[in-house]
Amino acid sequence: MSAVGLIPRDAPHLPVLLDEVIDGLAIADGETHVDATFGAGGYTRAMIATGARVIAFDRDPDAIANGRALEAESGNALTLVAADFSAMESELAALDAIPVDGVTMDIGVSSMQLDQAARGFSFQSDGPLDMRMSQSGPSAADFVNEADEAEIADVLYNYGEERQSRRVARAIVAARPITRTSELANIIRKSLGHKPHDKKDPATRSFQAIRIHVNRELGELVDGLEAAERVLKPGGRLAVVTFHSLEDRLVKQFFRERSGSQPAGSRHRPELGSNRLPSFDKPARAVRASESELARNPRARSATLRVARRTAAEAWSNKGDG
Ligand SMILES: C[S@@+](CC[C@H](N)C(=O)[O-])C[C@H]1O[C@@H](n2cnc3c(N)ncnc32)[C@H](O)[C@@H]1O
Repeated sequence: MSAVGLIPRDAPHLPVLLDEVIDGLAIADGETHVDATFGAGGYTRAMIATGARVIAFDRDPDAIANGRALEAESGNALTLVAADFSAMESELAALDAIPVDGVTMDIGVSSMQLDQAARGFSFQSDGPLDMRMSQSGPSAADFVNEADEAEIADVLYNYGEERQSRRVARAIVAARPITRTSELANIIRKSLGHKPHDKKDPATRSFQAIRIHVNRELGELVDGLEAAERVLKPGGRLAVVTFHSLEDRLVKQFFRERSGSQPAGSRHRPELGSNRLPSFDKPARAVRASESELARNPRARSATLRVARRTAAEAWSNKGDG
């Protein structure tokens, strides 16, 4: 049966690939699962409905506050934790919940975050230049106003694949201070020679890049995958949904390496030796959204789900390695 019916009609975020995630997790009654990215609780609701106990993380205090009603309603089936998922090992240890049967990560921003102009994620509506999921630490405005031009160019190039990163960085530095999302979007558009009929807003790539940088998203993803490897029991499932190629590449590489399909270690991670036993089975084929889901939720367009099962071998990364 589809889990989509469990999602309230007025849910502020439509869960992506929900049935595919729940199928991939193959939850047995009474298992303990981690929802690493609670958001509006779409996955958590479906996990609870299959009989799981869920420990759900979110770094956004608003997501946690909005989830408190579901937590109260669900008796002991749900525990919410306001923390980065990279910290899941110590947080789960404090709850005496290790090992767990599943970890699910739905990477990226929620519709609640994107749609609220005041959170400063969107170039389509004007708001303060913020972009912090956790609502703490340096904001996007701090970054664009304080970083040097070369650093801004690197971020735009590495995390936004913006080929004209130097040109955009120069325009940003020349226009400082910048405090509003609309201001930044216009500076970027102008520097790239935006035409009103362009199919894709040229600010898209730079906004993605700055958001990834401000929230340390790729570092969190790698640390989260490694933490999941350490907390899963043999046979436990790791399900990861990503939204762009930079993230998906990391997940694909992680599973390839850990399942023994690719020699371990690299120039960047020489400490990972080549004589380890696979800590995950070969992942199932990557899953994309169906036509019917895309018709309901165009935001699912770029989502990719990968699921793999933990073996009994020792985790490759030790706590704090990441
Ligand atoms: C795409 S949404 C998840 C939606 C959720 N699956 C649902 O069905 O409602 C991603 C959520 O993960 C949170 N998040 C992103 N990175 C995180 C991290 N490193 N640690 C904890 N939470 C994170 C965001 O704040 C956001 O609420």
